[in-house]
Amino acid sequence: KRWIVENDVDNKESYPQIVDAARILRENEVVAFPTETVYGLGANAKSDVAVDKIFKAKGRPSDNPLIVHISNKTQLKELVEEIPAAAEKLISAYWPGPLTLIFHKKDGVFSEKVTAGLDTVAIRMPDHPVALAIIEESGLPIAAPSANRSGKPSPTTAQHVIDDLEDRIIGVVDGGETGVGVESTVVDCTGSVPVILRPGGVTKEQLQEVVGEVGVDPSLKEGKGAPKSPGMKYTHYAPDAPVYLVDGTRGDVQKLVDEKKSEGLKAGVLTTDEFVDDYRADVVLSVGRRDDLNTVAHGLYDTLRAFNDRDVDIIFAEMFPEEGVGLAIMNRLHKAAGYRVIKS
Ligand code: TXA
Ligand code: MG
Repeated sequence: KRWIVENDVDNKESYPQIVDAARILRENEVVAFPTETVYGLGANAKSDVAVDKIFKAKGRPSDNPLIVHISNKTQLKELVEEIPAAAEKLISAYWPGPLTLIFHKKDGVFSEKVTAGLDTVAIRMPDHPVALAIIEESGLPIAAPSANRSGKPSPTTAQHVIDDLEDRIIGVVDGGETGVGVESTVVDCTGSVPVILRPGGVTKEQLQEVVGEVGVDPSLKEGKGAPKSPGMKYTHYAPDAPVYLVDGTRGDVQKLVDEKKSEGLKAGVLTTDEFVDDYRADVVLSVGRRDDLNTVAHGLYDTLRAFNDRDVDIIFAEMFPEEGVGLAIMNRLHKAAGYRVIKS
């Protein structure tokens, strides 16, 4: 079942769907809904039965913990042991918003399955009227990973959710395309210096403005070592065809395409609006505008998914500067490419 919901939740047309979705959550079933980053697959965080349904529907490894979503800041105190000073500052600056914070959890207030055996919990308050209204109406903390099959690019439209999970969930609340397009930034606030475990919608620069020094989990860089965020160790975001990042010029990309063509393979190129007409390849897709990386983040997952409909054998992707939201974009592209980079 798919429900169309206007982003104006005070609108009488949309309100029944929100009440419906909240009721489904209270009945310990799962339902997908939009957030400002990507679509989430929600379940009652207090119920083992409900949380289990998330792992089943996604085919997600049970050692990968979930983010708990809340609709107001006072809900936080019921879930965590303490709120460190750095977290307080980040919350005032960026909640609601694409920022997930890791806290020491309070025992016994939500399902152990949410945290996959860790003594910490990830919490965020999404900046999307539909998500906030559903959580508020449910009266529950809502565990919600991205609403994709494990390993696929995260969903940025209700159609993506349906493509991945149609036969596995009761429904998706359709709030149109998500805005940010990449997931929230995950920041560990349990140590002396806040550490980015997953780059995302709130940039490192934005975090630094508020708390000064910010660390980055070293395993993010090379994709080696044990990441502190368990989810980061899994293959992710990958289209069906292998992706290669090209650290070089557009001429280098064209050369690689020509080589594959001569081998009888169908090659795809992931580029931006500025250069989409410059390539000669079987499939050339633009992900957004290079002069505004927010558009690239917004279009990234839809573009990675679109290659699957075009039957390419191999995909060559341009790279982006790792500044601002570019850090999150490159993190997802590296993962989509299994960290394969062709240097010329
Ligand atoms: O934007 C988002 O964050 C989206 C929307 C739906 O809110 N959600 C999302 O959830 O991306 P998911 O499950 O796909 O990613 C959650 C990430 C994983 O990398 C997981 O390992 C990490 O957060 N995580 C969860 N709990 C953690 C914890 N206690 N310590 C460290 N990392 C944790
Ligand atoms: Mg995910």
